[in-house]
This record gives sequence, C-alpha cells and structure tokens, in this order.
Amino acid sequence: MCGIVGYIGKKNTKEILLDGLKELEYRGYDSAGIAILEDGNFHNFKAVGKLVNLEEKTKDFTTDKFAVGIGHTRWATHGKPTELNAHPHLGESSYVVHNGIIENYVSLKKALIEDGVRFLSQTDTEVIVHQFEKNLKTMQSAFEAFFQTIKELQGAYAILLVTKSEPDTIFFAKHGSPMILGINSEEEKYFASSDTPLIGHCSDVNYFEDGDYGYVSPNEIVLFDKNNNTKGVQFSKLSTNRLSAQKDGFRFFMEKEIYEQSDVIADTLMGRLGIQNILFEELDKALFEGIDEIKLCACGTSYHSALSASYLFERYAKIKTTVEIASEFRYRSPIMTKDTLFIVISQSGETADTLETLKMAKEAGLKTLVICNVDNSSMVRLADASILTRAGIEKGVASTKAFATQVCVFWMLSLYIAEIKNSLSSEEIAAQITLLREVPGHVKVSDAMHERIKRLSKRYLHGHGFFFIGRDIFYPLALEGALKLKEISYLHAEGYPSGEMKHGPIALADPELFTIALLPQHLLYEKSKSNVEELSARDSTICAISALEFDKADDYIPISACRDYMLEFFEMMVVVQLLSLEISIRLGNDVDMPRNLAKSVTVE
Ligand code: F6R
Repeated sequence: MCGIVGYIGKKNTKEILLDGLKELEYRGYDSAGIAILEDGNFHNFKAVGKLVNLEEKTKDFTTDKFAVGIGHTRWATHGKPTELNAHPHLGESSYVVHNGIIENYVSLKKALIEDGVRFLSQTDTEVIVHQFEKNLKTMQSAFEAFFQTIKELQGAYAILLVTKSEPDTIFFAKHGSPMILGINSEEEKYFASSDTPLIGHCSDVNYFEDGDYGYVSPNEIVLFDKNNNTKGVQFSKLSTNRLSAQKDGFRFFMEKEIYEQSDVIADTLMGRLGIQNILFEELDKALFEGIDEIKLCACGTSYHSALSASYLFERYAKIKTTVEIASEFRYRSPIMTKDTLFIVISQSGETADTLETLKMAKEAGLKTLVICNVDNSSMVRLADASILTRAGIEKGVASTKAFATQVCVFWMLSLYIAEIKNSLSSEEIAAQITLLREVPGHVKVSDAMHERIKRLSKRYLHGHGFFFIGRDIFYPLALEGALKLKEISYLHAEGYPSGEMKHGPIALADPELFTIALLPQHLLYEKSKSNVEELSARDSTICAISALEFDKADDYIPISACRDYMLEFFEMMVVVQLLSLEISIRLGNDVDMPRNLAKSVTVE
C-alpha cells in the first residue's frame, strides 16, 4: 500500500527520502517518486517498478544543503502504475503526495478542467495540488489555501504538500490514513506514514489524529485539530532499535518469519500465563461486564484467525461468537447491540475496512477491543482496549507469524473469558495453559520436515486447482493455507470444510485436482478421513498432513505426535506455510512482494 516520507533539513535529502521509502517497500507498491525543493527550485524524479529504478534515475543528483523533500511509494488505485500516475504530483509550482482516496475527485476535477487546468495523470491525488493552487490565487497565504483545500476534500487522506511560495515548509493533513512527525536534536523534521523510516533518525515522534492539519518549517510546528483549534504536538519517544529486519541468511522474509514463529509465540505468551489463569494486564475485566456475545471483524488472514477464535470462544468460553468480513460488515446495515463486545483483528492496525467497522461499533456505543501487532496504530488508538500480538515487524506480504500470534492471543482470551464466565474449571484452564506453553516447541521448523516439503513441492506446480480441507478449527486453517498458496504461487486454491466437499466441489475431483487434507488425530479424525476417502475414490491427488499415516493419500507430510488438537493446529500451520513458500520459490515468484498485493491495505 502507498507510503509517504518527508524531510526538512540540511542533510542529503535525496538519500533520506530514498532510504525512508526503502523502509516502506515491504508494504507493496508499483511506482515511486520524490520531489525536492532546494534554492527555490524543484527536482522531481519518478519511476515505475522497484525503488532501484528510482535510485538509478537519481544517481547523478545530490543535495548537500538545506532542502525540503517529499517522497511516495504508490500502489495503484485510480489509474495504472505509470510514471505519470506516480506521486509526487505537480501543479504549477507545488508538489503533493497522498495516501488514501479522494472520493469527490471527479467533481473537483471537472470544475478545475472548466477553469482551464490541464491534468497529467488519471489519479484522484492530482486534484489536491491543482485545487491548492487555485485557492492560492485568491488567498492571503499558502496555509490559508491549504486549509481551504482540505476543507473541500472528501474521503481518506494523509497529505504532504510543498510549494515554492513557502520554500522551507511542508504542509500536512491527516484524515483516515496514518501520518507521523519525527524530530531530533539536529532540528531536522521528518514525516512518514509509519514508524519504520524514522527509526535511527528521530528521537521523538508525534502520531497525528484524524482531522489534524498544519505545517512544519525549520523553526515551527503548527498544528490544528479537526475543529480548527490549535493544538500542541504530543511527542513520545521512538524506539532506538533498528527494527528493520534483515533476512539473516534466509532466502525470503517470509521464510525467516516462518522460522521465527517459535520465538515470537514465546514473546506473545510471556507474562500472560499464570498457573490457573490468563494474565492480560492490559485488560480491565469490566470490559466483559454485560457482554453476552462477541463479534469478530477483520480481513484476509486476520479474518481467518478470527474464524479460528470463534471455535475457541464457543468451546471454552461458552460465549456466542459471530465473525464478519470487514468489507461486508460495513455496508450491510448490521444490527449492533450493546451486549456485544466488538473485537477487530489486524496485523497492521491500519486496514481501512477493519478500521471503519471499529468506528461503526464505537459510534453504536459498543465496547471495543483490538488484537493488533502494531502499537500506536490507528486501531490501537481508537479501541477501548487492545492486546498486542508481539509478532515483531512482519515484512513478507503474505502473513505468517502475525497469524500464529493472533491465534495464540485468541486461545488465551478464550480462557480468560472462560474464567470470568466460569465456563471452565481452574483445572481445565490450567491444563489448557500447559498446552499453550508447549506451542513454541511445536512450531519449530525441523530440517527434515522442511526438506521433505521442499522435495514434495515439485509435484504441485500445475493442475487445475487446490482444495485445502479441514473440519472444525482446521477449516479456518484450510482457508489460510489456500490463501497463502494463492497469494504467492498465483495458483488457484480454495479452503473448504471437509464435510462440504460432497455438496458440490467433489464434481471437480480428478488427478489434476490437488487436495491438501488436514487430518488431526485429536479432532474428528474418522470423519475427516472418510471425507478424504471420498475424494481419493474419485482419483483426486491427495496430500495428507497428519500425525497418522494415511494409505489413501498420494503424498504424506507427517507432523509430530501431539497430545492435543491445538498443538496439531500449530504444527499443520507451519506445514501449509512452508508448502506455499516452496511451491512459490519453484515457480520463480517474488515471495515477499507478490504481484498485485500490498502489506497494509489502507484504502477500501
Ligand atoms: C494475507 C494478508 C492479508 C491481510 C489483510 C488484513 O497474507 O496479509 O490478507 O491479512 O489485508 O491485514 P491486517 O491484518 O493488517 O488488517
């Protein structure tokens, strides 16, 4: 998804902007650009594709004195990924970068064209700079013109604008898309759409709120809130750790992140497991008072972890649980009652659809909780309460360790609620906690298993489709396995409940239909097995993942003998992740940055 950086200072502005954009690369993009205003002149560079293309274009350009600069990585929404559509967008003497969507751009553009403005791009963003310049002609100052412009915009945005009429200033506005300001003792000012580009450069950061706007120059930070009142900047310390993960010898970040799962799950559990109870210091038990139902809302992989949670919540906490896809929920006039705890799940905490459902729940007066991986993200700041998953930065676009830690949090939360609701005895909770402690050991990747999957993957590079099938909580895992494969191999894959295959999809069964069967020993084993036998009898190619060898399968990936189905869940999770990884690598794809995908989807 799009990324923004900005800089005011005397260092090498070009390098700072390019380095910042590199830190945002993992979010996914298809073009990039920078604009630098130095000595009253603009220098602008844009390139389609990876940042190396932009680096190549800027290689003969340097900045070594005071300058202001803005940069952007674009993930195409309005208009194709071309150089003309890449940001920053130029007016007559100003440049703008923008994340989000300007919903009323068509009417603004029409009026501007009638006024004689010539548009170069197909983007919604370009209206911002022209509208600003139109306003500048009739207003006293650039800031007045900027303020008037954002008043005229509808939609979601994080905007940085630079103009020749105020050559040492960056104008900014935030509404629905993230934006951060960073400072340091060298009196430099940095902007970015997430923390990562600022680490190592800034000591303190301010997270803008929706509706914030203003301007920053070397000596001034002027900030207004959504009601147009001046407000103080709230700086907090930024971590000095260079969180920017390196691959540490792994071929891809996704592979590294699969291997990291044991450690990050240990972090997720740390300090939260008592002997007979779960300790969520971040939660107040009052959050659950008067609650008879839980509604979970998320997108993509986070939606799959939410589906997994619904099995755990109903089984252990005995609380009615429903799960919703955020993009559906927000437009279907849902009924929201105050006895419902509304939980959103998001790795990034910025996904536009999920964020919107959180706002809807808050407006309806529901209690809200977010399960999130990014502290200070928009969702964490908005929800009544939050539980952080502690997965660390996830760079691979295909989510792995975030999913693993989300499911762990949900497992703990189901026990936490079970204690409140008295639905499990202390002994039963203690037994579950003992299982939870074993999870890190079960997600360790063994050389033998990885090698087996690597070899086996060569048999799954073609065919007319994959079905990942499972029952109960293994159904969401099947959905997740299929999503992983789709995302990085571009092969068609579906997740299906095993028992549902005979109601239609079995018509597809033939040797070119690959069935990845999740066969846990400790949950509905016989039932799942007979569903797989039905497919095997119709000559579908079966790859069974199980602790028990299955003679009707063409291929078999063993997991270790576990003493509970949830431990089998985590073992199988690693297997489906690695299978997708190895198939994708064999197909020669860019595992970490799959085509058409973005890490954080901040547009709807
Ligand atoms: C899949 C994936 C996406 C995200 C989805 C929600 O590998 O990464 O499906 O899970 O876009 O993102 P978050 O969790 O950041 O809200």
